[in-house]
Amino acid sequence: MYVLVALVNIATRFWVMHMRKCLIAGNWKLNGDHTLCEQFAGTAFPTKPSLDIVICPPTVLLQSMHQLVKKYSNCLHLGAQDVSVEAQGAYTGEISAKMLHEAGAQYCIIGHSERRANFAETNEKVAIKMTHLLKANVSPIICVGESREAREQQQTLAVIEAQLSPIKAVLQQQAVSCAQIVIGYEPLWAVGSDRPASPEQAQQVHQHIRQLMTDVPDVDALRIIYGGSVTAHNSAALLAMPDIDGALVGGAALSIDSFLGLLPAV
Ligand code: 13P
Repeated sequence: MYVLVALVNIATRFWVMHMRKCLIAGNWKLNGDHTLCEQFAGTAFPTKPSLDIVICPPTVLLQSMHQLVKKYSNCLHLGAQDVSVEAQGAYTGEISAKMLHEAGAQYCIIGHSERRANFAETNEKVAIKMTHLLKANVSPIICVGESREAREQQQTLAVIEAQLSPIKAVLQQQAVSCAQIVIGYEPLWAVGSDRPASPEQAQQVHQHIRQLMTDVPDVDALRIIYGGSVTAHNSAALLAMPDIDGALVGGAALSIDSFLGLLPAV
């Protein structure tokens, strides 16, 4: 009997794990132009029911890329790289969640380490941004990750826990399903460094993130994606890990060939 229950548990876990669609997101950062939009929109990416491909161009290119994607009937989804902490009003230069939605964004990166470091994005601001995005029907890709020093001082999990704490509180309060969000684990020391986390290092943190989120609805549907020097050389090994549900890609998302090369085979 116990063996049967254990087998059912393992089978359920396997099924749930494979229920999560793999998500590969390209973050162009402060790069790209209309020509790159045309190249991506005009490329026949593999259409698989188990794969979501998202491109996050600079905000000013979102709307024209959205038109191009529609014109070529391309399977790409679009995402933004940031959103205002304000919903509307006298905030010169800001872009709201509703505006991003209208421009065609289905996803939006928040809490990226570059914004945390250069633009004072705090954990609390990230939680507010998440609330605006959810209200506007845009899925937040919430980035977390530790510095090299934090890792060396065995503080990785504590840092991630602190970053996710206000996020978790909002999700619980508002009974938001984990299916509506994505978490991106991007260790700072791996971003743009050509030194990615090993699949085992990333898996350990992803597993911890899933455990941290267990009391949020539908944790089994939570997609946790890895970012930090993902390329065609390491993506398959990373994506083979049970809690790595996709990749958040910077440099290798700036050319069609390198991006196509890192997409999963199945
Ligand atoms: P790289 O893939 O260039 O390391 O960048 C990762 C990243 O920051 C994606 O958001």
